[in-house]
Amino acid sequence: MKKPWSGRFKEKTAATVETFTESISFDFRLWPYDIQGSIAHVRMLGRKRVLKGDEVERIVSGLEEIASEIEAGRFRFKRGLEDIHMNIEAALIRKIGPLGGKLHTARSRNDQIALDLRLYLRAEAGECLKMMRRLQRVLLRLAERHVETVMPGYTHLQRAQPVTLGHHLLAYVEMLQRDRERLEDALKRINTLPLGACALAGTTLPIDRAYVARLLGFKRIAENSMDAVSDRDFAIEFLSFGAILMMHLSRLAEELVLWSTEEFSFLELPDAFATGSSIMPQKKNPDVAELIRGKSGRVYGALLSLLTTMKALPLTYNRDMQEDKIPLFDTVDTLKAVLTVLIEMLPALKFNRGRMRETAAGGYALATDLAEYLVSKGLPFRKAHEVAGGIVRYAVEKGVELQELTLEEYRRFSPLIEEDVFASITLEGALRLRRSRGGTSPEETRRQIKRLKKLI
Ligand code: ARG
Repeated sequence: MKKPWSGRFKEKTAATVETFTESISFDFRLWPYDIQGSIAHVRMLGRKRVLKGDEVERIVSGLEEIASEIEAGRFRFKRGLEDIHMNIEAALIRKIGPLGGKLHTARSRNDQIALDLRLYLRAEAGECLKMMRRLQRVLLRLAERHVETVMPGYTHLQRAQPVTLGHHLLAYVEMLQRDRERLEDALKRINTLPLGACALAGTTLPIDRAYVARLLGFKRIAENSMDAVSDRDFAIEFLSFGAILMMHLSRLAEELVLWSTEEFSFLELPDAFATGSSIMPQKKNPDVAELIRGKSGRVYGALLSLLTTMKALPLTYNRDMQEDKIPLFDTVDTLKAVLTVLIEMLPALKFNRGRMRETAAGGYALATDLAEYLVSKGLPFRKAHEVAGGIVRYAVEKGVELQELTLEEYRRFSPLIEEDVFASITLEGALRLRRSRGGTSPEETRRQIKRLKKLI
C-alpha cells in the first residue's frame, strides 16, 4: 500500500507496525463526520478560489459517492491505509484521479481528527440528552403514581423516617437534571471548530475558518492553532459527565437490587427483565441492575484512561492521542445501552405497597415526629430529643411500637403530652406534615413534579 509519505521513505512499513499503528478498525465509525468535514472544507477552498468551482463539485460528488458506498456496506476499509482519513482520501483519488489529492490542501490529519471527534461527540451528546430526558419522564410518571406510597427512608441503610416512593424517585430526576446541565455546558466547548489549525501552526494559504464554522454549525472557533490540535478537554469533559451519570445510575441500580431481595421485598422484577439460575430453580436475579452497576467501572476507567494518556504530553499532536477513541466510543455505547434498558425496565417494575408501608411503620421511624410534637408544645429540641429517646427505649424494652403505648405511659415521660400525640405519630400524619420545601409530603411532592415537568 503506497503511503502519502512515501516520498520521504526508502523502505516500506513493517507489517507489525501497520497492525500496531492502525486505527481504522475502530475509527471507521467516524466516516459520516469525516466526509461532512471534508465537504465543508472543500467548499471553503472553492470560495477562497484555492480550488476552482468545477473541482469543488467533482470532489464533493466523489465524497458523496464514497458515503453511499460505506452506507451500503460496499466499501472496503484497508488497514494499510491506517485510519479513516486516509482510507477516504485514497478512495477519492481512486475515484476521481489526481484531483482528489487537492482535498487535503490547507489541512492536516491533526486538525481533521479533532474535527471528526467533535462532530461525532456533538451528535452523540445530543442523543444522550434526549435519552436522559426520556428517562426523567419515565421516573416522573412512576413518581406520580406513587405520591402516596409510603416507604421507609434510610440513612446508614437503617430505617430513618417514612418517605414516599414518589419523593424517593424524584431524587433521581434531580440527579439527571444536573447531569443534563453538565452535558449542555460541556457541549459549548465540544461545539468548537478546530479545523484550519492544520498540522499545528496554521497555513500560508488563504482560508476562511468562520465560513467552515458556519457550514458545520460550530458556535466557536479554536483560536490558537497549537491548542486546537492538542486539546482533548472536550472528550475528557464528556467522560467526566459520563462517569457522574453512571455513578447516579449505579445507585439507582443498587437500590433495585436491594429492593428486589427476599429480605426487602419492596418490588418484584418483571420476568422480562430478570434472569434465572442454571442450577437453583427458585432464583430470579437482578442481572440488568447489576450490569448497570458494573458498567460504571468501565466508564470511570475510560475517564482515567484518557486523563492518563493526555498527562504530560508535550504540545502539540502526539500519536498517543489516537488512544482517545476506544474509551470514548465505548463510553458513548455504554451510556446509550444503560439508558435504553432503564427506560424500558422502570415502567415494568411492580412495587409491593403493603410491604413498603409495613416496613415504614415499624422500627420507631416516627421518633423524630414525636420529638417535633414536643417541640410544638414548647420544649427545646435537645430536651425533646432526649424525652423521645427515653420513650423509644421504654417501648423497645417492652417490645411494642410507639403507637401501642397508652397516654398514661406517655405522660410519665412528659406532662406536655396529650391525646393529640397519637395523630402525630401516624404514618399519614407524619408524611402530610413534612411539607417544607423539598420535603416528602404528597402536597409538596406534587408541587415538585409540576416544577420538574416544566424543566423537562
Ligand atoms: N489516526 C490518528 C489519530 O487518531 C489521526 C491523526 C494522525 N496524525 C498524525 N500526525 N499521525 O490520532
